[in-house]
Amino acid sequence: MHIPRHLAIIMDGNGRWAEQRHLPRISGHRQGVRVVRDIVKECHRLGIDYLTLYAFSSENWGRPEEEVSALMDLLGRYLQSELELMLKNRISLRVIGELDRLPPGVRSALKETVERTRNNGDMVLTLALSYGARNELVRAVRKIAAKVQAGLLLPGEITERTFADCLDTAGMPDPDLLIRTSGEMRVSNFLLWQLAYAEMVFTPVLWPDFNEDELHRCLEEYSSRERRFGLTHDQVAGLRPEGRRVNH
Ligand code: IPE
Ligand code: IPE
Ligand code: MG
Repeated sequence: MHIPRHLAIIMDGNGRWAEQRHLPRISGHRQGVRVVRDIVKECHRLGIDYLTLYAFSSENWGRPEEEVSALMDLLGRYLQSELELMLKNRISLRVIGELDRLPPGVRSALKETVERTRNNGDMVLTLALSYGARNELVRAVRKIAAKVQAGLLLPGEITERTFADCLDTAGMPDPDLLIRTSGEMRVSNFLLWQLAYAEMVFTPVLWPDFNEDELHRCLEEYSSRERRFGLTHDQVAGLRPEGRRVNH
């Protein structure tokens, strides 16, 4: 099985999972957090270097206040309970998104966890919180415009690299694989720049039912894909290291 260096996941379907059981939506989110725990551990075990989880979108702020505050509460508690696991497994936490919109308590818990796990080198776990790709792109443009205005950069000197370095994901490789659960086949404003060449796997399984076996199935599907990056099959076949599986 070919393991992606960077796996990104849109964890979707918590609400439907709860509705199917006639439970409040928040119990779906609660179960979803348990799955996050298992999947983080499994990705670490598999040797994935970067795991990026879409946990709360810019658009999710528009949900009923009760659901938003319950989600923020869950997030704060997740950070408290996971710190030990992150330290033990040498996982470092990173956050992307418009963090100043988050409640102060969550912000300080995030800051503390990021700082305490900063030097962990086994896996980078990135939480996308209050994240919207268009907002991230606009913020990047503002940073570049400020540099140009300050006379530090000429418009002609702006490259794809300059741009990538101004995104929240600066320094991270692009995702190799995007998984979305719950049967929805859309990107929902997630990593629009970074997903340019990602493979995408969509599974009907709702996030609270997702588990290690389902993750392995998604990775098998990823392994069967041929990534061509605009080249021909023969070209990439010539470049490919031995032993890697390809679909003809
Ligand atoms: C994903 O599950 C979690 C968040 C977006 C925070 P949803 O809450 O979107 O679940 P569905 O899509 O309504 O089933
Ligand atoms: C995307 O799911 C955001 C997260 C998983 C955090 P949504 O449930 O918010 O997306 P849409 O509204 O169905 O596109
Ligand atoms: Mg959803």
